[in-house]
Amino acid sequence: MLDKCIRDQWSIDDLDWSIPPPLLSRDKEEAVVQAFVDMAGIELLAGALFEVQRQKTTDPTLKKIFATFVADEKRHSAVASRLAQHYDVHHYRAYTESSSLTRFRPPFLALVQNTSPEIANAYITSGELILDVALLRSLDDYVADEMSHRAMHLVNRDESRHIAVDFHMTEHYCSDEHRAAISKRPRPSVREIARMTRELATMMWHAKPFLQEVFLAPMDRTDPSGRRVQEAFKRIQLVLRKPTVARAPFSKFMIKTQELYNHPILGKILGRLLLRLLGAEDRAARILFTQEELARTQQMSFDELAEEAIGIKYA
Ligand SMILES: [Fe+2]
Ligand SMILES: [Fe+2]
Repeated sequence: MLDKCIRDQWSIDDLDWSIPPPLLSRDKEEAVVQAFVDMAGIELLAGALFEVQRQKTTDPTLKKIFATFVADEKRHSAVASRLAQHYDVHHYRAYTESSSLTRFRPPFLALVQNTSPEIANAYITSGELILDVALLRSLDDYVADEMSHRAMHLVNRDESRHIAVDFHMTEHYCSDEHRAAISKRPRPSVREIARMTRELATMMWHAKPFLQEVFLAPMDRTDPSGRRVQEAFKRIQLVLRKPTVARAPFSKFMIKTQELYNHPILGKILGRLLLRLLGAEDRAARILFTQEELARTQQMSFDELAEEAIGIKYA
């Protein structure tokens, strides 16, 4: 993986930026430019998260791999800014990052810094799945332009490596060996638990408007069928139910809350509260997989799951 990470580095100047931008309606131009401005911000956040993982890991190879991921995400941010400029033909207005993203960033980073690496990895993996399987792919379809296609092709190549390592980390954190190591960790004090709960609650509070403004609303426009976003959420639900993942306390909580939400009676009564607890909206909380899909993915390795998730992008 490290060899691949080093070999597949690229620079935004490798792309030929002289391709003329297409003629877009005012409405579409504004939506496209805003989406790329937000993408630039999300990629920077992704880079900051990998920087935390780089600092936290003790494995020297993983440290180097995460360092290349930090560089990748910075490059993705730069390429997104450049695409925003490229499509901002008429300068209809000034574009700034969506405020819900600006507000979400500090509590999310704080949580990833301070919480257990297992929970941090769960959020990073889910975030990358939504970003790579749904948001970027549907944005690229919507723009339907050669410049974006070429840039996204290179971004996706990097993201395949990220998803593979995200899934590898998930497998590692849920393994028997790692669980045995955790059980030897000193128990957190009441004070530490209170702090972590407060940080988790703050993050969840800001997660919903962020998901809504930066992910779901743009995707209602770029992927009105909702196909890609469902695919991403389904992947997350299936990984969560891999036997070793499902036994972790955090997974148990998520699965139980999701089951309650999907209960014909309790779901109706407690629906709104359960969604807030999950930090999700209906599309993510509804059970999206079939029993056959569940049975099939339970048999697959984490590598195969990662590969399949990446394959979906090109389907
Ligand atoms: Fe990225
Ligand atoms: Fe990534």
